[in-house]
Amino acid sequence: MLRRVASLSFLTLGLLSRLALGDNPINPGFPYGSEKVRGVNLGGWLVLEPWITPSIFDNTGNPNIVDEWTFCQMQDRNTAMSVLTNHWNTWITESDFAAIAAAGLNHVRLPIGYWAFEVGPGEPYCTGQLPYLQQAVSWAETYGLKVIVDLHGAPGSQNGFDNSGQRLSFPGWHSNATNVARTDAIIKQIASMFAGQENVVPIIAPLNDFPYGTSQEGNTVVLLHDAFQPLSYWNGFQTPPGWQGVAMDTHIYQMFSQDEVSRSDQEHISAACAYASSLSTFDLWIIVGEWTPAPTDCATYLNGRGVGARYDGTYPGSTFVGSCDGLTGSASSFSSSYKTFLRQYWEAQVITFEKGSGWIQWTWKAENADDWTYQAGLANGWIPQNPTQLMYPNICG
Ligand SMILES: *[C@@H]1O[C@H](CO)[C@@H](O)[C@H](O)[C@H]1NC(C)=O
Repeated sequence: MLRRVASLSFLTLGLLSRLALGDNPINPGFPYGSEKVRGVNLGGWLVLEPWITPSIFDNTGNPNIVDEWTFCQMQDRNTAMSVLTNHWNTWITESDFAAIAAAGLNHVRLPIGYWAFEVGPGEPYCTGQLPYLQQAVSWAETYGLKVIVDLHGAPGSQNGFDNSGQRLSFPGWHSNATNVARTDAIIKQIASMFAGQENVVPIIAPLNDFPYGTSQEGNTVVLLHDAFQPLSYWNGFQTPPGWQGVAMDTHIYQMFSQDEVSRSDQEHISAACAYASSLSTFDLWIIVGEWTPAPTDCATYLNGRGVGARYDGTYPGSTFVGSCDGLTGSASSFSSSYKTFLRQYWEAQVITFEKGSGWIQWTWKAENADDWTYQAGLANGWIPQNPTQLMYPNICG
């Protein structure tokens, strides 16, 4: 999961992607633009996030283990490897792909870190993720799902968050040409790994939270992140016919500032609906690649292991809005009015994001944050079994 990013002056670094060869439009493995993307992220599987699997971090007994880097650096390596291997084998299995397809979804977005492909000298990461990526693609094919391979962490960290593999005060990717070159090589490796499988892997997202791509050939669509700029910033950027096969990824969350966690339920819904015009008028395929029905930052470790929440005032510099009790954790603690709100807010976002090319919710499952997960939404009724069956089709007016 990702939220804010480095400053815009670095954007030109990797800008790139794919210059079409004249009148040779690509033929992607999914009809983006005519059919809506409806999907879910497989977060916390091949890249650990403390808030998705807090037990994996708590069980270390070491409060300084806050991300995947420190997970493999600050404990016995055999222990780290065996915990990770068990996690990779159990967190997502074939039955998850079956359930995702049965829920009427057509895409999964699968975050993976650079260290699955190449680990540099002095980097403590554990490896062994690649066979799981390949297995995931094969399960997706079995169940008719498309996979967006999402490079979620780059060398040096592109965003400084634990979800990039390394929690840092200053992201170190963009200012280091070696890191950028390593990333470029890894993206080429991903592209060649799935060359010829564009029907299952139609899109590669070269770098989460950063609009970085690389030149590509074939029918693979390149999904660029909007770098948290307003969509108007990107108007006219890499559009057809000069460019082909470029899509934009935008992430829409409403809990990573004091203003946002202070919104009322109706304000959250209105703010979601307000994205309709920028999404519907955008000139590239635009996918909301991360979003959630959760309205608060209450989930344990959401802001990092050992870091509190803005909503209840335990985050540094924040002001109490309300108690987190009954707003995250197990759905068994959720009131019926909160579940009704989750349904309305989910539908408002789905309706709005389908004004663009579609949506991919963050995330499929979590140990103890049912407000965030597609799985808990299905089980507890705030997400419909078929994502086109809406109870509040006029929620946005
Ligand atoms: C750039 O990153 C590489 C690792 O990819 C590292 O070895 C090198 O020291 C970094 N250079 C600078 C100037 O920080």
